[in-house]
Amino acid sequence: MSDRQTLYLCVGSACHQLGGYRLLPLLAALRDRHGLNEQLDIKGAFCLETCQQGRSLKFGDCVFTGLSEANLEELFTHEILPQLRPV
Ligand code: FES
Repeated sequence: MSDRQTLYLCVGSACHQLGGYRLLPLLAALRDRHGLNEQLDIKGAFCLETCQQGRSLKFGDCVFTGLSEANLEELFTHEILPQLRPV
């Protein structure tokens, strides 16, 4: 039962300049905290074409923008987690 999904964190140049890479360890920590190592891969992605809207990530068909250290956990909890753990 390998049903892994992949979250793509943008590491394109605009997001990189905004410190997008700093979100990577935070995402990894959230994944670990929720015991999702077997379900979720986190990879870097090149520009998701939402540069104007701040740091971005893609999960499934959705691109989430305006990411920050402050709002990342909320996004993960409300947008990503429910898709990994169907209720
Ligand atoms: S560089 Fe991240 S959306 Fe363009």
